Order: sequence, then structure tokens, then C-alpha cells
Amino acid sequence: MIRASILGLGSYVPDRVVTNDEIRFLNDKHETCAETQTETNDAWIKTRTGIEERRYVPNDSGFTCSDLALRAAQAALTDAGIGPKDLDCIILATLSPDIHFPGTAVFLQSKLGIDGEDGCACFDIRQQCSGFVYGMQMADAFVRTNMYKKILLVGSELHSHSLDYSTRGRDVMVLFGDGAGAAVIGPKETDDPTAGILHTHCQADGSGAMDLYLKVFEIGHLPYVYYDANNRDENQIKYPQMNGKKVFLNAVRSMVASIKRALAETGLTWNDITWFVPHQANLRINEAVVQYAEIPPEKALNSIQWYGNTTAATVPLTIDHYRKAGKVKKGDLILSTVFGAGFTWGSAIFRL
Ligand code: ACO
Repeated sequence: MIRASILGLGSYVPDRVVTNDEIRFLNDKHETCAETQTETNDAWIKTRTGIEERRYVPNDSGFTCSDLALRAAQAALTDAGIGPKDLDCIILATLSPDIHFPGTAVFLQSKLGIDGEDGCACFDIRQQCSGFVYGMQMADAFVRTNMYKKILLVGSELHSHSLDYSTRGRDVMVLFGDGAGAAVIGPKETDDPTAGILHTHCQADGSGAMDLYLKVFEIGHLPYVYYDANNRDENQIKYPQMNGKKVFLNAVRSMVASIKRALAETGLTWNDITWFVPHQANLRINEAVVQYAEIPPEKALNSIQWYGNTTAATVPLTIDHYRKAGKVKKGDLILSTVFGAGFTWGSAIFRL
């Protein structure tokens, strides 16, 4: 039988490490100042989120989301043993696109050198932290229906340029980091009924849309972009806004329900699954999920300590991190569960 499978994986994080001690001295140009810029501290961040450090693109590097995506994509293509020209579809998940339109997948396509008259299909999906699992469901469906054969799925985020580095923005600012992860997904001939992508489901609840959002502009207003130093609402337009407690509670509830659904629909148990790789929004969310979903704690993999929340990139980045460390291996069965703005959530079960 033919199964949609992960043929290659790759990830990329920039070299610059920003620790919890350093972040309070950063100004909005990412320069380290002598004076504290944000009232926060390592103990608060670590206790509430588990985050110790995150990666930022270099100052004034001109880096964009598609530049991060390119590096992860190249690693995934090399891992799959194929070249960019073999791709017939690119799916790029991000909440930090290069520009508002066109989507970032076309910029990635160009940077991969496969633009032009015969260029492959390109999609952007805007499912925030759930983007990778939503993208995996699309890729699985495309392969099953023989629509596309070699799909590049990338989650890429450049958060560090759109955060509020004043005390007002500290609850959100300390959470996020820059990074990208990618997978090549395609058909694989196999006799193993548990090979490849076994299961995906995706859900959303739009009633939570304004509990976690970034406006940048309001198309219903004239002028639709109004950054004005005298405008008291300026920060509510420019920077992400989050009802942290509500997001936390909904994340735990929806992720636990999603895990139970994935197991019930496949008939699998934790004895069958090698690793649980949840979205990395907050280590405390993941610890609560492990407890309420009765997951063996030693099967849960987290990378938020080192990378913060890289939204659409967290799942492939975490898998690739542990693969490089020799912990995750070919043939392992992974259950990934995600939750993000929208609210959106879902799970995927797949064999590497
Ligand atoms: N440093 C120091 N103090 C802080 C910071 C900070 N970085 N941020 C907030 N505080 C203060 C608050 O001002 C408040 O002070 P007060 O008691 O004097 O008013 C105090 O700490 C407690 O603040 P809370 O908001 O009640 O803290 P909470 O325990 O809820 O933790 C957190 C905040 C970590 C953000 C938590 O709510 C959370 O993780 N929520 C979910 C986040 C999440 O999953 N986001 C997903 C985003 S990804 C996506 O989909 C785009």
C-alpha cells in the first residue's frame, strides 16, 4: 500500500542566544543596554514558562521568515535525498510572514531557485501554533489523492522583530523565539499498516479569536494602519495581545481532548507510541497535559527551554533537536498535539 510519509526532516535556528538574564536589557533594536528596559527576571520566566533562552536573528541582518524557512527546507531536502526541483508543492505555515501578501511560500520557492513558468504549487497556511499539524493533514490528503508527490512542509517564524520590549509587553515578549522546521512528505510503498502518517485531525473554535491576536492593521478602519505616537492604542495594533490565563486553560483542555481522540480513533495506546511531541508554548501547559492525559512523562519531549515558543516551527524543531541528539530514531512512532491562536488545535500520529 501507499502511505504518506516523512521522507526527510530539517530545522534551523539562528546563532544568537538570548538568555532570560539578557532579555530585560534589550531595547527594541535588540541592543543590550546598561539599564533594564523591561521589568522581568529569570526566576519569573523559568517558573511560569520553563523557558531559559531563545534564539534571535542577528541585528540588522535583513532576515525574514522565508530566510529561516530556506535553511530548514534545505536541511530537510538533503535529509530526504532530493533536490528542490523534485518538489511539486510547498506548504508554509507562519504567523510572521515576510509581508502581508503575497504569501511567504512563494518567496521561499524563489529562494530555493524553483520559481518560473514551471513553478510548483505554493500555499501559506495561517494556523499559528497549529500550523504544522494542519499542514501535515493537507499534505497527507494531497498524497493520498495523488495530487502531489513531493511536498515541502515548513513551519517558520521570525518573532523577535514584532515584540514589545517594554514592561507593558513582557508577558508575551519573553515567550517567543525565532526558528524554522521542515519536512518533506511523499508517498512510500509499504506493507506496514502502522507506517507513515497514521492519523491527523484538526479543530478550531473561533470564539477564542480575540484572546490571542496581532492586528498590525484594521481593514475596517480608515486609515487602516494608524501607528501614531499619540494614539493610546498603538501597542494594541503593533504587538501580539494575549489573554494568557484563558489561552493556558483552553490549551490544556483542548490538547488533552485531542490526544484522547487521536488514540481512540487509531486504537493505539501509550505502549505503542514512542514519543509525545507537543507544541511548545509553555512547559507548564505541557506538564499539565502529560498529567491529565496520563502520558508516561519519559515519553514527552520538550525543547522550549532552549528555543522558546517558535509557533508553527516547534514540532519539527523539537523532533529534529532530539533526532540530532540521538534520542529520536527512524521508525519511532510520534504523537504530536498542538494548540494555538484562533483557537486552533489538533493531533497527528506518524512513524518517522
Ligand atoms: N516578568 C515578570 N512579571 C511578569 C511578566 C514577566 N515576563 N509577565 C507578567 N508578569 C506579572 C504580571 O504583570 C502579574 O503581575 P501582578 O500580579 O502584579 O499583576 C504577574 O506577573 C502574574 O501575571 P499573570 O498574567 O497572572 O501570570 P500567569 O501565571 O498567567 O502567567 C503566562 C503568564 C506565562 C503568559 C501564562 O498565562 C501562559 O503561559 N499563558 C499561555 C501562553 C500561550 O500558550 N500562548 C500561546 C501563544 S502561541 C500562539 O498561538 C500564537
